[in-house]
Amino acid sequence: MESNIKGDVKDVGLSATGVSRIDWAAREMKVLRNIRDRFSISKPLEGIRISACLHVTTETANLLLTLKAGGAEVEICASNPLSTQDDVAAALVSEYSIPTYAIHGEDNDTYYKHISMALDNEPHITMDDGADLVTVIHRDRRELLGNILAGTEETTTGVIRLKSLAAQGKLEYPIIAVNEAETKHFFDNRYGTGQSTIDGITRATNVLWAGKKVVVCGYGWCSRGIAMRSRAMGSQVIVTEVEPVRALEAIMDGYQVMPMLEAAQIGDIFVTATGDVNVIDKDHLELMKNGVILANSGHFNVEINVPALEQMSQSKRYVKPFVEEYVLPDGRNIYLLGEGRLINLSAAEGHPSSVMDMSFANQALCIEHLAGLVDKLQPNVYNVPTQIDKDVAKLKLESLGIYIDTLTDEQKRYLESWEEGT
Ligand code: ADE
Repeated sequence: MESNIKGDVKDVGLSATGVSRIDWAAREMKVLRNIRDRFSISKPLEGIRISACLHVTTETANLLLTLKAGGAEVEICASNPLSTQDDVAAALVSEYSIPTYAIHGEDNDTYYKHISMALDNEPHITMDDGADLVTVIHRDRRELLGNILAGTEETTTGVIRLKSLAAQGKLEYPIIAVNEAETKHFFDNRYGTGQSTIDGITRATNVLWAGKKVVVCGYGWCSRGIAMRSRAMGSQVIVTEVEPVRALEAIMDGYQVMPMLEAAQIGDIFVTATGDVNVIDKDHLELMKNGVILANSGHFNVEINVPALEQMSQSKRYVKPFVEEYVLPDGRNIYLLGEGRLINLSAAEGHPSSVMDMSFANQALCIEHLAGLVDKLQPNVYNVPTQIDKDVAKLKLESLGIYIDTLTDEQKRYLESWEEGT
C-alpha cells in the first residue's frame, strides 16, 4: 500500500516482505511487546518528537512501533550505510507511517542528507547508535538545540564520542548511555555480536571455522563474544589487546594472547572489534599469509586500514557480495569483507531479535523516563537508571518462563548486618 508519509527508501514495493519479517522478529521480542501494550494505554510519549539514527532492521522497527504506540512522532535514518534492510525501510514508510530515510548501500553524501532529513522534525529526543545525530546537531544544526530535552546512545563507540564531547565541555544536552546497562552490554555486545559476527562472515564466505586460526582484535564485551563463538566453532583463537587486565582475562579464558605483529603472521581470519583506528595497519598487512580474511565488527570502518590496503595492492577484484580480493605485488591475496564496515549488519541481519529485545526495552524505558522528567537533566552522559536495568532483566526472565528465588527476611538481615563473622 502506497502512502503519503515522507521518506527516502529504495522501493516501497518491498514492504510486504518487511512486514512479514518485522512480525517474525516480534515473536522473540516479548519484553518490548509488554512495554508496547502498556504504552498504548498510558501514552507516556504523547506530543514527543523523536529522531532516531539506528540500524534499520526488523528489531528497530519493533522499537519504533513501541514508541509510536506510546504517542511519539518518530522519524528514522540509518546509522550505517550498509546496515539498512530495504524491505523494513519500505514497510516503515508505507505500512506504519514512520518517515524513514535509509537506503542500503547509500553513499556518504546521501547518508548525511538522510540524517539531516530525519532532524527536520525538530526532535525533543534523539536516539543514536554511534553518535552521528548528536555530532551533526552540535556541528551543523545548532538551531535545533533549543527544542531538545535529551537523547539516548546505543553503542560503545557512541558513548566514547559523547564522553569526549562532555569532557571538552561541549555537550549541550543530556544523554543516557543505553550501552552501559548490564542488560545491554552483557548480552547484546557479547552474545549478540558473537553470534551475528560469525553469521556475517559465514554468509559472506561460507568458510569452515573448524581448524582456522582466528585473530580477535580487542577483548571488550563484543570481542569476548566473538572469541567465545569462534572457539565454539572449532577455531584456535588468538586475542590481541592493549589493556593489561583484559589481556590477562583473555589468557585465563584460555586464549593465546600476543602482539598484533605476531598474530598477523599466523592468523587465517582476522576480526576487529576495538572501537579504535588502524588496529590492522599497513605493517600488519605486510606480514599476513596468502588468502587471509579480514572483517570488522566495530561500529565504524576505521579499524582496518583499508586506504593502506588499497595503496599496497596491485589490483582489486569483486569476488561475490561482501567479498573483495586485493592482490599484492608479491602475489598474495587478502580478502576484505563488507568494505571493512561492520560485518554482522552488512552481510547478515545484525543481532538476533531475542537479544535486541533487551537493548531496545532499555531504549523504550529510558525514553519514557526522559519524557517524564519534571526537571531537565544537566548536559552530561548518564547511566541507565538501575531500576530500568533490573526491570528489563525481570521482564526478560518472565518472558522466557523462568522464575527465580527471592531473599528470605533472614538472608536480607544477614546481608545488611556486619556483626556475624566466623
Ligand atoms: N545492532 C546490532 N544488531 C542490531 C539489530 N538487529 N538491529 C538494530 N541494531 C542492531
